[in-house]
Amino acid sequence: MKKKIAITKGDGVGPEVVDEGIKILKTISDYTEFEFEFQEAPAGGAIWKKFGESLPEKSFEIIRNSDALLFGAIGIPGLPQGAAEIAILKIRQGLDLYVNLRPIKLYEALRDRCPLKEEYIGEGIDITFVRENTEGLYANIGGILKDEVAQNIMVYTRKGCERIIKYAFEIAKRKGHSKITSVDKANILRPSQLWRKIFHEIGFDYPSIKTEDIYVDAFCQWLIRTPYAYQTVVTGNLFGDIISDEAAFLIGSLGMASSGNIHPNKVSMYEPIHGSAPDIAGKNIANPIGTILSVKLMMEESFNSELGKEIEVAVEEALKVGRTIDIKNPNLKALSTKEMGDLISEKLKTILKK
Ligand code: NAI
Ligand code: MG
Repeated sequence: MKKKIAITKGDGVGPEVVDEGIKILKTISDYTEFEFEFQEAPAGGAIWKKFGESLPEKSFEIIRNSDALLFGAIGIPGLPQGAAEIAILKIRQGLDLYVNLRPIKLYEALRDRCPLKEEYIGEGIDITFVRENTEGLYANIGGILKDEVAQNIMVYTRKGCERIIKYAFEIAKRKGHSKITSVDKANILRPSQLWRKIFHEIGFDYPSIKTEDIYVDAFCQWLIRTPYAYQTVVTGNLFGDIISDEAAFLIGSLGMASSGNIHPNKVSMYEPIHGSAPDIAGKNIANPIGTILSVKLMMEESFNSELGKEIEVAVEEALKVGRTIDIKNPNLKALSTKEMGDLISEKLKTILKK
């Protein structure tokens, strides 16, 4: 099975972590029927400095003509606000990537790295966050008006709500979840009222999945009080952005969290949720697992493959042997970015050879 994968390494630790993601894809192609062709689509701060734009047309062409995009992170300190980061919005909008999928899973091996007390972790944390990725306050409608009145308008459409909520129910069904939680602010915001209505209309078609609504402010505290109580969580663009970062802190390190920007059955983008981490760039110490788990998502969501599970098992096995510094454990080997990637790749080889 041939797949064309566009690669945007980006800035800072981006290239370091993406190289480890590619390592995993190469291991897959060595041991399975998958064949990957990689093509670089440069974007980000360094590219902006060179060409005055952070996503050259040629890069976008490469991305558009690929089967999926593996993306590192972009951003360089000192550039004008958003100069580099606009590339991400252009890709999301240009490909209409309306799903932001952010799984938050605390691996058993990292239970001691979770900032919550044992009683709050309970039976464990494994939440599939589904964030709307194109509408709401990020629809970019507004501006700075006369007398410095600044405005963004929160826009939700029936079409936009329906497609993301349907996606969330489908993924809940695929994962065998018994409950789906919708997070909104329907007591105040009109767009949330439309959202909630559509959530229940669609929920009607999935009688085996229990539905639940929670206001976003309350959810922020429930997430740290009873994180084990959530399975699939679906929410709008702004709330999803904020909550999923809060959630990412629960799994041990920002470097562990993966994500997909998805348009089902079209070109989608997979990236760790962290940024370019300029404070640790070039030192070969960044945690590559967020990127490797993004490859897992790519296999599952874009290539409809079961191999994502094997990648996850390889990660869990590796975590029992060695760690990068952000998740270090005095009883285990201290590993560099490359060594962490090598270890996971070795574990994956062993699994795939069986
Ligand atoms: P950041 O995520 O780059 O770093 C926050 C903290 O987490 C830092 O202390 C960093 O060292 C640590 N960290 C991040 N990734 C890590 C990893 N893989 N392993 C170990 N530690 C890790 O966020 P920050 O500093 O706010 O942003 C830096 C730049 O990245 C900015 O230009 C920002 O705009 C950009 N950014 C880009 C994103 C993207 O490309 N999708 C997402 C978030 C930020
Ligand atoms: Mg964010």
